[in-house]
Amino acid sequence: MNNLSDSMHNLMMFYKDKSCLVTGGFGFVGGHVVDFLLKSGAVVHVLDIDTSPERPSLINLKGLRDKISIITADITDKDTMEGAIDETKSSIIFHFAAAATVVEKAMDIPYATVMANTMGLVNVLDAVRKLDHSVYSVLFSSTDKVYGEAAELPYKENETPLRAIGLYDAAKMAADVLAESYAEVFGVNVIIVRLCNLMGPYDFNIDFRLIPKSMKNIYCEGQPPELYFHSLSHWRDYLYIDDAVRAMLLLAKQKKCHGEIYNMPGCKFASTPMMINDIVDKTAEIERRFDGGLANQIIDQGAKIVMGKAKHVVIEKQHLSGEKIKDAIGFVPEISFEEGLEKTILFYRSYFQGLTEKQATAQNPEE
Ligand SMILES: NC(=O)c1ccc[n+]([C@@H]2O[C@H](COP(=O)([O-])OP(=O)(O)OC[C@H]3O[C@@H](n4cnc5c(N)ncnc54)[C@H](O)[C@@H]3O)[C@@H](O)[C@H]2O)c1
Repeated sequence: MNNLSDSMHNLMMFYKDKSCLVTGGFGFVGGHVVDFLLKSGAVVHVLDIDTSPERPSLINLKGLRDKISIITADITDKDTMEGAIDETKSSIIFHFAAAATVVEKAMDIPYATVMANTMGLVNVLDAVRKLDHSVYSVLFSSTDKVYGEAAELPYKENETPLRAIGLYDAAKMAADVLAESYAEVFGVNVIIVRLCNLMGPYDFNIDFRLIPKSMKNIYCEGQPPELYFHSLSHWRDYLYIDDAVRAMLLLAKQKKCHGEIYNMPGCKFASTPMMINDIVDKTAEIERRFDGGLANQIIDQGAKIVMGKAKHVVIEKQHLSGEKIKDAIGFVPEISFEEGLEKTILFYRSYFQGLTEKQATAQNPEE
């Protein structure tokens, strides 16, 4: 066994037989955490407002429903949350549930966004505070958007001021600050992780996120990906989901991380036009193994610039320092951007084309 698999084995052994509650487990990030926990032999409880079997989600598509206990609940309901946390006797809670499709949706439902993204976490932390059984750790998924527009990059946990203005961003920032309060004032073992943009399979926020949306444009509509004029100067960090999951599971395992804040750095810092170019090039490269005509069409079409002003507050550049998480748990991304992007595109290719994953990854024998 090499070092990597040794450390993964240790990580999985830690979670074996542990009772874990994953809020928002039917979403993108939560689904991958559920998958990892099940592979580790954990007892997994998933709480989500939408747990229907028809919903596109990792849990449903991988047939995991029978392996977990499902709680259909709204995180803004204080009493229900208290009951759920008490009854599951969870020793580790991963809190992902949120109105997470970011800016566009938050603009339409401001009150609900604040309730879910701020009070949802408060309900979890307050329930933990009152419980008679001890919760080993609560991992809260915050966001790089809490920093807002900063004079200096990269954002550093203990130096960069929090300047979130957008509604989603500010609601997350409030939760992020309150998490620190609950740790400091009540000794709740919460860990705050400020995530960058994650990419990977099973993200069904298709109309809101760059890669899934571009895949839909290409594979469902025969159209080029859209590049918004107002996003031409945006820069973001990108990280493959498996690396993010590994880091979060490592953080939740470590006592020394309780009460601390960690940035989750990317494996690539790129402008939005650079990302769109990479998506087009990689999709064409993959498609050339299957359908040369479509590969040529993808290259010829390139990207479509969509004019217009942003309706919401947007941050020009978001960039996280990864020094603190590296010092604490030795985390650095292991999956390269190219590999992560390829895996992600292959998933959506198969999903949108209705092929099995095996068919989608098989090489074209004529090539
Ligand atoms: N995906 C990213 O790149 C990214 C980046 C930064 C931060 N985050 C944070 O990570 C978390 C997970 O993000 P995601 O990408 O998996 O989002 P997602 O939208 O795929 O998943 C969120 C889940 O929360 C559930 N939910 C929403 N409101 C709820 C409520 N009131 N009660 C119970 N469940 C509710 C949804 O049904 C969904 O299953 C979020 O808190 C998000 O803010 C994600």
